[in-house]
Amino acid sequence: MKILMVTAEAAPYAKTGGLADAVASLARELQRAGDEVRLLLPLYGSVEEIYRRRMFPLPYPLAIRLGTVHWARVHEHIEPGGLRVYFLEYQRYFGRDRIYDDGRRAFSDNAERFSLLCRAALDLPGLIQWIPDVFHCHDWMAGLVPVFLETRDRQGPLWRSASVLTVHNLSHQGYADRSILDFAGLPRSLFRPDQLEACGGVNFLKGGLYFANKLTTVSPSYAGEIQAEELGCGLQNVLRFRSGDLMGILNGIDGDVWNPATDPLIPHNYSRGQLAGKALCKKSFYQKYFPAGGDGRPLFTAIARLCQQKGLDVLAEILPRLFATVDIRVALLGSGDRKLEEQLRQLARQFPDRLHVTVGYDEAQAHLLEAAGDFFLMPSRFEPCGLNQLYSLRYGTLPIVRSTGGLRDSVLCYDERTGAGTGFTFHDLTPQSLADAIGWACACYHDRPRHLRAMVHRAMGQDFSWSRPAARYRDCYRWALESKRGSG
Ligand code: ADP
Ligand code: GLC
Repeated sequence: MKILMVTAEAAPYAKTGGLADAVASLARELQRAGDEVRLLLPLYGSVEEIYRRRMFPLPYPLAIRLGTVHWARVHEHIEPGGLRVYFLEYQRYFGRDRIYDDGRRAFSDNAERFSLLCRAALDLPGLIQWIPDVFHCHDWMAGLVPVFLETRDRQGPLWRSASVLTVHNLSHQGYADRSILDFAGLPRSLFRPDQLEACGGVNFLKGGLYFANKLTTVSPSYAGEIQAEELGCGLQNVLRFRSGDLMGILNGIDGDVWNPATDPLIPHNYSRGQLAGKALCKKSFYQKYFPAGGDGRPLFTAIARLCQQKGLDVLAEILPRLFATVDIRVALLGSGDRKLEEQLRQLARQFPDRLHVTVGYDEAQAHLLEAAGDFFLMPSRFEPCGLNQLYSLRYGTLPIVRSTGGLRDSVLCYDERTGAGTGFTFHDLTPQSLADAIGWACACYHDRPRHLRAMVHRAMGQDFSWSRPAARYRDCYRWALESKRGSG
């Protein structure tokens, strides 16, 4: 099958979170298994020189047929595994370093920027003489692709191409004034409450959800949750309307990048059968960050974008009380909300022997925290899939998670009687429930080390490779093609 992935992020070229990892590793897995996959993303100012050096400009410029024609340059890079990556160069929109915001506020022209990306996806096939069977669109940034496909491009060279839209995070939807329809060259008649209109404006994600042939989201639980009011973010009705076309497929992880046996970013490698290296990772972490000591004390780690979704504000709230009652060490890595960043820094100053905080984005530190920890904290308010808990399972760092979305689908709660489980789960995101879950993990660490070891062993043996999810995406593509061509 020929698949064009349309995305705002793909690792390692441009990344703010799990979207980049998920899209790129799915694309590589499908390509490895024999499909012909290509990927389109913007060439941001921040794409590093080492990648730029490997790309070649296509010989002709791309005419992007929005309301008016915009000319762009497309650069191609062919990865060693054969995946072709197209970078869309359009200085005015993508020349800046950051992807969505200036560090504080979203760019005011995001709707224009990602309309351009979407339209480029539909105009690129003509330039490269390659018609995809399926456009696989990721999140609202690619939401207009299915809209174009079922309106302006319904007749023409793409009439047999289907679209699949994957929701990685329903809380980001892409709003714009209705004038965006003229900018995009889309008919004004789409401005209807059942199609693109929401709250008086145009909602990109809603349009995609309405027009895509099939929909997926990144875990089975989240597929159910987004159809109800609590996590439906106002789109629960359109999701319920399309529920027969919606699949929940749990993400995989890139086992080459996240493998404790070969990871070059951790001081000691280890595996399920050879765990000595894990203890050494913790030891060197303690020597570096907690020189006052702490051997024998459990280490809790967390890595996250600091935003409402991740629930780390609740952790910050309970830390002083926790430090007063249990002897633990905590190491956090994250950036985002300025207030929370400052609160965490302040706590680290207050408890230097207990808490280490890195504010910023640091790939190497992320790997180190996954390897050195005993427990990994993810008290998310909602979590479509979550990759960090999957990494932590692979690294034998038992996740402590709120039972929601993909966390619920990937972490099996500890059973004290039998010793079963791969982590600790709790239900309500209250300070007390989180403190209880941490206390429970501490008790297991000190009082039932045999259970703990068995859980680590079990966690590390789970298969979260992309092969199974990729096969399900392939089913979904076939299903989308049937519905497109069957009705065509
Ligand atoms: P989300 O996509 O909602 O942020 P995920 O758990 O799916 O959550 O993915 C997060 C990804 O981003 C992981 O690869 C994680 O390691 C990475 N990440 C998040 N924050 C940081 C950070 N401050 N430094 C390094 N990596 C980070
Ligand atoms: C989003 C979600 C996260 C998911 C990731 C990749 O960023 O917040 O839960 O793992 O996308 O699908």
